[in-house]
Amino acid sequence: MATDNVTYSGEKIFKEAQDFLPINGTDYVELYVGNAKQSAHFYKTAFGFQSVAYAGLETGLKDRVSYVLQQDKIRLVLTSPLKQDGPINEHINKHGDGVKVIALWVDDATKAWQETTSRGAESFMEPIKEEDEYGYVVKSGIHTYGETVHIFVERKNYHGAFMPGFKEWKSDYNPTEVGLKYIDHMVGNVGWGEMNKWCEFYAKVMGFTQLVSFDDKDISTEYTALMSKVMSNGTGRIKFPINEPAEGRKKSQIEEYIDFYNGAGVQHIAVATNNIIETVAQLRARGVEFLRVPEVYYDDVLDRVGEIDEDLEPLKNLNILIDRDDEGYLLQIFTKPVLDRPTMFFEIIQRKGAQSFGKGNFKALFEAIEREQELRQTL
Ligand code: FE2
Repeated sequence: MATDNVTYSGEKIFKEAQDFLPINGTDYVELYVGNAKQSAHFYKTAFGFQSVAYAGLETGLKDRVSYVLQQDKIRLVLTSPLKQDGPINEHINKHGDGVKVIALWVDDATKAWQETTSRGAESFMEPIKEEDEYGYVVKSGIHTYGETVHIFVERKNYHGAFMPGFKEWKSDYNPTEVGLKYIDHMVGNVGWGEMNKWCEFYAKVMGFTQLVSFDDKDISTEYTALMSKVMSNGTGRIKFPINEPAEGRKKSQIEEYIDFYNGAGVQHIAVATNNIIETVAQLRARGVEFLRVPEVYYDDVLDRVGEIDEDLEPLKNLNILIDRDDEGYLLQIFTKPVLDRPTMFFEIIQRKGAQSFGKGNFKALFEAIEREQELRQTL
């Protein structure tokens, strides 16, 4: 039910969300990639994901292959085409490797489709029931920004490895997890002037509310700028910040993304850990590359954020960033793009009370990205 219970606290606007689309969490994230077998190896080796399920020629598929990996509540699906031509090939040709599906776990996928399409969402997939010996799932889907889609997954009557059509994937190669727990938020980059349109989409079609808004004065350096609004569902479990470029003296990271992705798409997946020092030490040891802020960042960071539980030294050594808001603090770090194109990357985040997104780090962070853009000759 809608309420007008709006309170303002600083820049935050909290509003009780409409509950026509209850979402339990992120079900999975599917990337279309050029070589799913090798991508799966990368996510196992570098990020500690575990082998869960597989679909391909051996399970009766003719045109594509998918590997399902999981770490705690985070599930990745990596899909590649097996033949020339077709929508997956076109997607990869246009965008490079990237996120096609942000799947949302719901109790009723039919109702989710009806509620969203009746509010103006463009259908991607009508509700469909798929079953095997482990039960059934119901799936439906709608389009969102760019060529990205949301698939609603109803799995309360299913107890197989992943979904009908997939078989359990048992591997002899099982690198340990690195402590990644769940998806904290997923950020979309959209084109010039499109941020409000997509925020309105999440508000109107999915009943999300705006948590926070950053304008180009919040997010700018000497050279580049962007704007961002964070949309959240009623439970707060799903948070989708939407970025758009803003005018600056040089080309912003959002423009660089849009150029190489050829349109709007998922910019980063923020994954939560309960021990960021341990997690990032592991990730670095396994070859994951992170953005680097200058050492001077640590000279006065504690003056800015106050007392924290952790020693500063390991945070400094690992280049982990710190920020504080009214509710607590957070620790965060950003990988370099994990694909060939300068498009998608990961954020590792540990929240110690703070529910915000690290506004105090934006400037240092974007200067770090500009240094990478300079090397890529895309600034
Ligand atoms: Fe983020």
